[in-house]
Amino acid sequence: MMAQVFPASVTVLTPATSANLGPGFDSLGLALRLYNRFVIEESGDDPLRPSIEVLGALGASLSTGPDNLFFRAFALLFERKQAQLPALRIRMIIDIPPGCGLGSSATAVVGGLVAANELLRARDLAVSKEELLALAVEVEAGNHPDNVAPALLGGLVATTIVGGKIRAVKTLFPDALKAIIFTPSFPMDTVEGRKLLPASYSKADVTFNTGRVALLLTALQTGHYELIGEAMQDRLHQPYRQALFPAMPDIINAAITAGAHGASLSGGGSSLIALASSRFQEVLQAMQETARALGVNGTGMILRADQQGARVLSTSRGHIRKEKIARYEDKYYWPPARSSEELPLNE
Ligand code: HSE
Repeated sequence: MMAQVFPASVTVLTPATSANLGPGFDSLGLALRLYNRFVIEESGDDPLRPSIEVLGALGASLSTGPDNLFFRAFALLFERKQAQLPALRIRMIIDIPPGCGLGSSATAVVGGLVAANELLRARDLAVSKEELLALAVEVEAGNHPDNVAPALLGGLVATTIVGGKIRAVKTLFPDALKAIIFTPSFPMDTVEGRKLLPASYSKADVTFNTGRVALLLTALQTGHYELIGEAMQDRLHQPYRQALFPAMPDIINAAITAGAHGASLSGGGSSLIALASSRFQEVLQAMQETARALGVNGTGMILRADQQGARVLSTSRGHIRKEKIARYEDKYYWPPARSSEELPLNE
């Protein structure tokens, strides 16, 4: 009988995400073409003490111990499938700034689960995307689905929890729109930010938001982008988080004045996201100049939506899936010395 061959290494690419998009608090998220990449190899002696290496200055604060989020997510899936955890060498190529509202931790959670699932596939133990999503929400701090769902599925994802089960619906994000991201030099802690939110809201504030979520999804679906500005308004979290980022409304207004359809805080901050169908450079410049004038340093990016979500780029058997690594390398960068406008973004 031939020996069973397991892949000895897996490379996973996971996109950045922008949660909330203004009114969709804890329920809307968009995947972006900026990526963290995770390379794992079955190597070493002790499954509980992986060798973890972080590449990229942005990842300097990430743990390389057994509490590493990627490893915890990876190990959880093996545990749930009652499979023997292999000893691992993990390399994390970090291009998404942690703690800045771009779903950095979600990339680790989803990346760990997708990598584990790929190794489990060779053992006939792979699980469905629905199961991966449920586990991702379980591992993600605060158990919010709005970053992990688009990181896993790509596109624009609406999520909610029904009877303890995650419901996620993905739609493709319009190609006509790009996200202009301004990331201040300071991070914002999502958990701390949530402590500023009230325990309950008035009916007027709740209906303000429900109406705008409906408007935002309909505007995106029908191409009525002129409605996005109103549709990205929020009364549930952004006004309270402003205490941690007082320059936020001025930078948002500058983006809209320069030609963006709308703008909001990205996730729990500190990044801001503006959506535009033209004048991308002008919008970015206006955000940066306004921020600088208010004493806020930061960097900017112009990104298209990632429509695909986390994917396995390669296994040790050399099988390259769908896209060539060389092509994706062209599609993202950090720090953004160049705008993605200058890069060959079209498929
Ligand atoms: N929706 C979360 C928040 C961030 O605004 O706190 C992402 O999970």
